[in-house]
Amino acid sequence: MKAQPADLDHDRIAIIGAGHVGATAAYALMLRALFREIILIDKDRALAEAEAADIADANALTRPTHVRAGDYADAASAGIAVITAGGVTHGAQTRLSVATESAAIVSECVDSLMNLGFRGLIVVSANPVDLMTLVALRRSSLPPRQVLGTGTLLDTSRLKQTLSETLKVSPGSIEGFVLGEHGDSEVTAFSTIRIGGQTLDRFCLETGDLDRPAIARQVRLAGYDIVKGKGYTSYGVATAIVRICEAVVRDERAVLPVSTQLTGQYGLTDLCLSLPCIVGAGGVERVLMPDLDPHEAVALVASGTVLKTAFASLSG
Ligand code: 2OP
Repeated sequence: MKAQPADLDHDRIAIIGAGHVGATAAYALMLRALFREIILIDKDRALAEAEAADIADANALTRPTHVRAGDYADAASAGIAVITAGGVTHGAQTRLSVATESAAIVSECVDSLMNLGFRGLIVVSANPVDLMTLVALRRSSLPPRQVLGTGTLLDTSRLKQTLSETLKVSPGSIEGFVLGEHGDSEVTAFSTIRIGGQTLDRFCLETGDLDRPAIARQVRLAGYDIVKGKGYTSYGVATAIVRICEAVVRDERAVLPVSTQLTGQYGLTDLCLSLPCIVGAGGVERVLMPDLDPHEAVALVASGTVLKTAFASLSG
């Protein structure tokens, strides 16, 4: 029997999964002082306790946040629950290859939250993140705006960083998006890039054109390259989690490419993928449809088809 809806405590966040991503996200959230209380939940309670204790050691040196290991009863009233727990990729394994394992873990996490009356926002970072966002949405029956995935916010950050090095412009001064799947079918939408209001074509008239396929490839493979070197990725995706939480907590209505359920955009429905979204206190307040080049729009639909097929084989 389901519990009564829990009272919402917007000053509390629960992070489910105290592995590399969960612990790094907790640490980065503590440094940003966005919440009064951070609860770390993990099947390995000793790991959650150790990570929480290690982070809490920094309290006196920063702005104090109460960081502790907890369980789902502590998470039930959290304003945001972040799901980092999921399958782990090794070497050149694709994110989609761990879908079955992740779906079982994410479903269990969502059931545990919902059985205790959770009614906050769910932020998913477990891979394959677009499929896991859809799993969490369906499983939770929460309104679609309340379930979002880190999606291509990370790839977009990687794109800006890469462009920044080539064009010698601060990454924060570059607008533009990687869209679609956070994975092999993602779309680097060069048509959306603006630097000081100029398109990339216009900007490059002075600097010389870029090898766009090479940049898209570098961005798409960045995660694999990091996994090759250190076995996992953590800082980038954890910071994407923090950026989403910040937009929610401060009701920023910031435009962020996050994974969300589509309702006919570019002809796509019944799937989650990343489009630029207005993110505020309610989660995804609005999904935007940039004017893409025709070949980018085709690639986006193809990315959606990859995700639909993968989700169908997961459910079937
Ligand atoms: C990343 O791209 C592995 O999805 C994770 O960093």
